Amino acid sequence: MAIPRDFINELVARTDIVDLIERKVPLKKAGKNYAACCPFHSEKSPSFTVSRDKQFYHCFGCGAHGNAIDFVMEYDRLDFPDAIEELAGQLGLEVPRERGNGPRRDEGLSRDLYQLMEAAANYFQAQLKHHPQQQQVNDYVAKRGLSAEIVEQFGIGYAPDGWDNILNTLGKSNDAQEKLLAAGMLIANDQGRRYDRFRDRLMFPIRDRRGRVVAFGGRVLGDGTPKYLNSPETPIFHKGNELYGLYELRQKHRDPQRVMIVEGYMDVVALAQFGIDYAVASLGTSTTSEQFQMLLRSAKEVVCCYDGDNAGKEAAWRAMETALPLMKPGDTVRFMFLAQGEDPDSMVRKVGKAEFEQLIDRAITIEELLFNGLTEQHGADKASLAKHASSLIEKIQDEVLQNMMLEQLASRLRMDNAEQMKRMLGLKSRQQKRLSSPSLKGRGTPLRLAIALVVQQPSLGYQLPPQPALKHLKMPGVELLMELLDLTRASTMTSAQLLEHYRDTEQFSTLKKVAQWEHQVADEHLQQGFKETLVWLTNQYIEQRYQALSMKQDLTREEKVQLQKLISAMKAQH
Ligand code: UTP
Ligand code: MN
Repeated sequence: MAIPRDFINELVARTDIVDLIERKVPLKKAGKNYAACCPFHSEKSPSFTVSRDKQFYHCFGCGAHGNAIDFVMEYDRLDFPDAIEELAGQLGLEVPRERGNGPRRDEGLSRDLYQLMEAAANYFQAQLKHHPQQQQVNDYVAKRGLSAEIVEQFGIGYAPDGWDNILNTLGKSNDAQEKLLAAGMLIANDQGRRYDRFRDRLMFPIRDRRGRVVAFGGRVLGDGTPKYLNSPETPIFHKGNELYGLYELRQKHRDPQRVMIVEGYMDVVALAQFGIDYAVASLGTSTTSEQFQMLLRSAKEVVCCYDGDNAGKEAAWRAMETALPLMKPGDTVRFMFLAQGEDPDSMVRKVGKAEFEQLIDRAITIEELLFNGLTEQHGADKASLAKHASSLIEKIQDEVLQNMMLEQLASRLRMDNAEQMKRMLGLKSRQQKRLSSPSLKGRGTPLRLAIALVVQQPSLGYQLPPQPALKHLKMPGVELLMELLDLTRASTMTSAQLLEHYRDTEQFSTLKKVAQWEHQVADEHLQQGFKETLVWLTNQYIEQRYQALSMKQDLTREEKVQLQKLISAMKAQH
């Protein structure tokens, strides 16, 4: 479902970027703008600026730039719809949705499912305390060394033995049973008989970011199989999008320095009990991009913890491949491997918090994992190592980080520098790609200046009469200028709003750069300067048209008249 453009415009108009950024990054007034040390790369002196007039931020150090939406996307690492939700939330607005062709989530159904899952969680928790057979499950809880507090904190419960506990407690009507089926709490057999999915298991509720129970993992009390039974995918649960323990972690730490990802429910719970209350678990699969994204949004440092066996190494390698494209400078992703036969649960019980945290401190960086792994796989064969390395480093979207990795690779391979490395790998630096893009070459041309002025000061275009001559001017970039003039003619807006029109277009990155361009026109001459560029462009058109007509044979009457006019217009210029 699309978010209406008007709403996005309104959000950008109503959010003040200085206030928005100020809340996360302390800003200092510097002339007309505000300055700070850049939150997107590490630096000692401030090169990050925020302009209230333009409603834009720009870092002269790393090149980060954009409007309020970009800031929220970058800083909070949200995707576009979530960034809109976030900004709307700050203003107390509800995001309206246009009915598109996409699948429409049934909000009513979801609400009912959340309620049922909550009720089921409460039921399981109560059973852990009051069920006639609670003795054996509590023996198991004791055997696993779980404290009452941690059981409470994680909402751990007990699904009693039997086929119809949930069925009878929460499925009193057919409608309720249908919903329990949809929520994955009941199963229907071939004859259509419905029965409880979870029987005689210790129940771990899985909560989403907002604390709503969306699924369960249930462990057998002995050695039965499967050891863990999990909720299936449902309308409110997609296992690749959730992390076990993240909600509980956020309850403890608003802004954790570090998060650790481990493999099991029990690991998260045991670590928390021992005071390492910043661990989460993916849900029985390798860590997905969405999960990594959530981790990197939660803390600057992510530690991935694996068993010391081959399976652990393979899982780490997969995780590295998933993490690379998501990383930004300043992010730290590290890896630790436990001794054979240990998992975080057994380890922390054995060595305690302090020693476990020393192990975390010794975790290797993602670069080390990458280079060690490559060396292991390719030995002294530099060429094949470099080729494999390039295929991995190419995944890094962030240019600064990519260059850093190339520098490291170059030094490890004892090559002189990253440039040489790039040439050898055939990696074209993005700088080069950008320069060769056809649009808006020639930095200081009047056309570029006109575009820059209207982007930086859209009021220049407000109610400006249409410029019919320019429509016919043959010059790359003119169409973009005409479009910008059409947009700004109709209403007053800020740069940030104007750019928002282009977010998903090819021109977006160009326009963002243009918005930062130092055009050297003094504020009091903006109007004049803008007019001059339009006059210059109109003259270009006159020139082009004159050339075309004067070369042409057999002019029509109208063309002859036009040629006369053009000639006198040109005389007037000189
Ligand atoms: P492990 O087999 O390592 O279990 O599975 P564990 O966490 O150490 O559990 P305990 O200590 O034996 O109780 C790790 C994770 O893999 C998923 C679960 O998410 C589990 O926490 N898993 C494992 C399943 O989903 N199903 C299974 O049958 C086994
Ligand atoms: Mn275990």
